[in-house]
Amino acid sequence: MSYQEEYNQSSNDPIAFWRKQADDIQWIKKPNIILSKNSENNYQWFEDGQLNTSYLALDYHIEQGNGDTIALIYDSPVTNSKQKFTYNELKHEVAKFACVLKNKNIEKGDRVLIYMPMIPQAAIAMLACARIGAIHSVVFGGFSAHELAIRIDDAQPKVIVSASCGVEIKKVIPYKPMIDKAIELSQYKPSSCIIYQRELIEASLVTDRDYCWASLTENSPEVEPVAVNATDPLYILYTSGTTGKPKGVVRDNGSHAVAMKYSMKAIYDIEPGEVFWAASDVGWVVGHSYIVYAPLIAGCTTILFEGKPVFTPDAGTFWRVCEEYNVKALFSAPTAFRAICKEDPNADLIQKYDLSNLKRLYLAGERLDPATYQWLKDKTNLPVIDHWWQTETGWAIASIPYGIEAKKTKAGSAGLATPGYDIKVVDGSGNELAKGEEGNIAIKLPLPPGCLSTIWQNAERFKDGYLNTFPGYYVTGDGGYIDEDDYLFIMGRTDDIINVAGHRMSTGEIEEVISNHPAIAECAVIGGHCSIKGQVPSALVVMKNNVNLTNEELISELKQSIREQIGPIASLREVHIVQRLPKTRSGKILRKTIRQIVDGEEYQIPSTIDDPIVLEELQLLLGAA
Ligand code: COA
Ligand code: AMP
Repeated sequence: MSYQEEYNQSSNDPIAFWRKQADDIQWIKKPNIILSKNSENNYQWFEDGQLNTSYLALDYHIEQGNGDTIALIYDSPVTNSKQKFTYNELKHEVAKFACVLKNKNIEKGDRVLIYMPMIPQAAIAMLACARIGAIHSVVFGGFSAHELAIRIDDAQPKVIVSASCGVEIKKVIPYKPMIDKAIELSQYKPSSCIIYQRELIEASLVTDRDYCWASLTENSPEVEPVAVNATDPLYILYTSGTTGKPKGVVRDNGSHAVAMKYSMKAIYDIEPGEVFWAASDVGWVVGHSYIVYAPLIAGCTTILFEGKPVFTPDAGTFWRVCEEYNVKALFSAPTAFRAICKEDPNADLIQKYDLSNLKRLYLAGERLDPATYQWLKDKTNLPVIDHWWQTETGWAIASIPYGIEAKKTKAGSAGLATPGYDIKVVDGSGNELAKGEEGNIAIKLPLPPGCLSTIWQNAERFKDGYLNTFPGYYVTGDGGYIDEDDYLFIMGRTDDIINVAGHRMSTGEIEEVISNHPAIAECAVIGGHCSIKGQVPSALVVMKNNVNLTNEELISELKQSIREQIGPIASLREVHIVQRLPKTRSGKILRKTIRQIVDGEEYQIPSTIDDPIVLEELQLLLGAA
């Protein structure tokens, strides 16, 4: 079937289309009701179905006689270790840890927070939650104790699962002090913490609250998967909104499993037994979907890589992994490849490895700039596929669905609408724009299976943030256009969210932290251009009078408070101390103009500006910097 035929089927009769895809997974109770509305009047998929996601990812393959197939490969250049788990072995570990969780009073619907480095125990903990119907909430290791505390208060997990440390390029980061601090800061107190002790650091445990992973699992019996409703949540994953409070994206079991299975074939063209590698982190949505769930549900081999694209030990590490494990498709962020290109511009390291099994490269998380696209295409001779998605959708909204038809790619474009997604470009009033015209990108409801069902404990925020702006549509927060050939071009966010090394951050949240410093009168944070990370946060701050700090002291304190309150991944690149911020006559800060000046781009003086002299002052200051 051609891409167009498949797409038409998905849009002409979504119910028949998704019923067919749902037939491709093994249900405990097959759904009869494919699409309906819930009590909040939101669409839901497979309402009366029952299943277990851990069963689909593990037991099912064993029942099919594939227990000895490698399910997960752990490759850790930062600790010099490697480990392989067959489906039998992974199931054994998951079923034991599921029992450990049950013994810590975790029941169906209870939350478990997972704050882990990239070690197999992170995936084991996630699948163990799924096995007993608990809801996991994984928090990326680069977030601070303060951010962790916000998530603890929102998700209210009975148990936290963590490890004694994470390992970065040149340093070991103790995790346990962060957990202790977060629990001290949070209002809600989890009853237990289960800590995986790594050789590099042994964490000290609090009596009657903290337990050692190894001793709990050593003689643990295994538990069988329980039946959950398709609409029961599988996980909550927090992502940045435009305010300081992150949004808990909720994903349910049934529609997620169907979308994951469909996408592995349709988008990535991966068959059971083949090796798929998403070089991301389990703390992000890419890690949830394409390190853990989709490859395992599809019966493939997945790779959990604890390292960076460069310096672990060099910029050839991605290619080494691809050769060593016969990776068929590699998925990472443009940032990773920009970092590789910087270290190895002539691609000498690519030549060192036999990449004959590698068929395609997939990129997402931020815009794939044409220069990186071209470099990768030239140096690898492989199809380089940009695809666009969000934490909220859980899988690609636009892509080149290679498993359906190998359509051509276009530099700068994130591809065509993935079957299931009806993408429209609309103006500020919700009117559909013509091809080639840039506007807000919206998706006509219903969203396909796999997308968020709500925001955790905040149905109003779900409606206000996504559904109320253009009735009948989900608003993505991204802007762009669709060209004459139906290819989508994502041009950037239409809100105050920036993208740092493929990680989504809210400038509003960073501004909140800066404004809390006693010396600051007001501030504006923008995402300045960075040749490796795409964007990095930079701040303009106005000091209060009579502040007893030198500029250097203030800047250092502000940078430190961002690291402490949000985490090292948000670290500020530059802080500019200014007398005034450029504003409109109605007092709105001119962030776009500030960003253009910081990036040295040409800009137009907005007609609404209050005082044009402020822009001249800023230009002078940054020119002199
Ligand atoms: N736990 C603890 N700290 C972490 C962390 C984690 N899981 N991940 C990052 N950090 C810390 C880093 O140690 C660093 O701290 P420092 O400022 O004290 O040195 C800081 O956060 C910034 O890290 P990072 O953004 O990784 O920058 P880097 O300069 O160390 O590395 C790249 C640059 C390009 C190699 C790296 O950003 C990268 O691999 N990017 C690709 C990201 C990606 O795959 N995103 C995909 C999501 S789909
Ligand atoms: P996250 O939820 O962290 O995955 O971030 C999602 C956001 O990242 C999107 O809303 C986009 O702004 C951006 N993004 C992700 N993939 C792409 C892509 N392929 N092209 C352009 N922007 C992207």
